[in-house]
Amino acid sequence: MKHFLVIFEPDGKSVFIHAKATLLEAAGQAGIILNSACGGKGICKKCQVILEPDGRQVLACQYHVQSNLTVTIPDSSRFFEQKILTTGIETKAKFEPDIYKKYQKGNSAKRILGVAVDIGTTTVVAKLVDMVTGRCIATQAALNPQARYGDDVISRITYAQTEEKLAELQKAIIDCINELIAKLCSEADIAAKQIYEMCIVGNTTMNHIFLALPITQLGLAPYKAYSLSAHNLPPKKLGLQINPEGNIHTVENIAGFVGSDTTAVVLAVDMDSAEEMTLAVDIGTNGEIVLGTKDKLYAASCAAGPAFEGAGITYGSRAVDGAIEAVILNDEDIDVDVIGNCSPRSICGSGLIDAVAVMLDLGIIDKTGRFVDPNTLAHIKSEKTLQKIVKQGGQPAFVLAETKGEKIFLTQKDIREVQLAKAAIRAGIKILQKQVELTDSDIERILLAGAFGNYIRPVNALKIGLLPAVPVERIRFVGNAALAGARMLLLSSQARDKARQLARKIQYIEIANRKEFQNVFAESMTF
Ligand code: FES
Repeated sequence: MKHFLVIFEPDGKSVFIHAKATLLEAAGQAGIILNSACGGKGICKKCQVILEPDGRQVLACQYHVQSNLTVTIPDSSRFFEQKILTTGIETKAKFEPDIYKKYQKGNSAKRILGVAVDIGTTTVVAKLVDMVTGRCIATQAALNPQARYGDDVISRITYAQTEEKLAELQKAIIDCINELIAKLCSEADIAAKQIYEMCIVGNTTMNHIFLALPITQLGLAPYKAYSLSAHNLPPKKLGLQINPEGNIHTVENIAGFVGSDTTAVVLAVDMDSAEEMTLAVDIGTNGEIVLGTKDKLYAASCAAGPAFEGAGITYGSRAVDGAIEAVILNDEDIDVDVIGNCSPRSICGSGLIDAVAVMLDLGIIDKTGRFVDPNTLAHIKSEKTLQKIVKQGGQPAFVLAETKGEKIFLTQKDIREVQLAKAAIRAGIKILQKQVELTDSDIERILLAGAFGNYIRPVNALKIGLLPAVPVERIRFVGNAALAGARMLLLSSQARDKARQLARKIQYIEIANRKEFQNVFAESMTF
């Protein structure tokens, strides 16, 4: 399929995108989240962008990319810029920056800067922020170097059973953050001593390793955190290379498997004042879900496993160059969209969800996930598509692409892995729904947070039953809401007070202990 280059100004971010994509999708792939209150239906008019050079205003959700383009995004169309820097229409929470004031006394420094960090199990993202204006100056990201000790939190917990090993994991993350700080400084042309405050969020295991708190108990039922509290420490104590007079703030965890990153998400999307029944989902190796309104909030964690990051899938990978990230049904066959505009080599999480949805649409697999007998597929008129149904290692498989004779395909076993991952998330959501006695249609908003959530196509996430069956316009992307929350918490003492209250208010539900879990999980396996 033909691809075009879209450049977004004033960010200077660019993306190669297929010809059928809208500017709303293109912006999302470039990491820019636009307002899309109507879910891309062309009704809310909140996603206006400007086509350059003629200055024509269009709705990003309705404009399909047909050529190389430069597009200016006004602040009013941005989801988080608007949300964090002003009260905005998306949130009632208004947090004045005030933390900087403690550094102003007797300080001749021109600028007081801070860094917000989201420590993910897989990636670490850091933002350099002006503590007075709240403006983001630079962003840097790196893979979490602890990955060499294991992909998921359980393997890190298993590794860090002695003080020495815990210290080794702590050093790995501190070194990584120091490198990110150095890169932020060089990108913004500032000195590290201008950075006074840092705010760190992450899941409870990442939080505990960062602080070198005991983590053995996190791997044993009842999976208790050693500390749920916020901590404030001098940079020297942790070996972080910022101004030695500064402060490192970590945020309250909610429970053993729901950490300060979830506290930050709830703060950023302002679930605490939500009138509508809201479900926030951060899909990752460990999926975190929060359900409720301003009156009551419940949280749970579900062990989705790393299938959506490509592990256990024959051609699975993370969202790297060469990964199929979209599979689209066209009139004659299927098209694939590949990250980096290069030849397909693998398939990442969003591509997996699309591929399964397309296979369901075509009837190649049934609701139980089983490949049907190819002789029953007379309704598929495309010879090209029929030829994609093959046998690989004795299993039925569906070929998504072929490069230089190498086929990229999904086998029956791959489909089962996707079912297990999606069932873990869906079962977690269903158990929270039972807790609040809600049907799917009672859920008025679904907020998809995190990098992965930003790339999946809601229609297909609904089709495979990853999310409750709600009208698609109720689903919204909120980008890296954990980092957005960390930025609020970096700047404002009001936000910190609010986080403390939230962490106490959110009721944690341990879903795996529920007697109905096995049944709910089994019923969530079907599409
Ligand atoms: S009009 Fe484009 S998202 Fe609502």
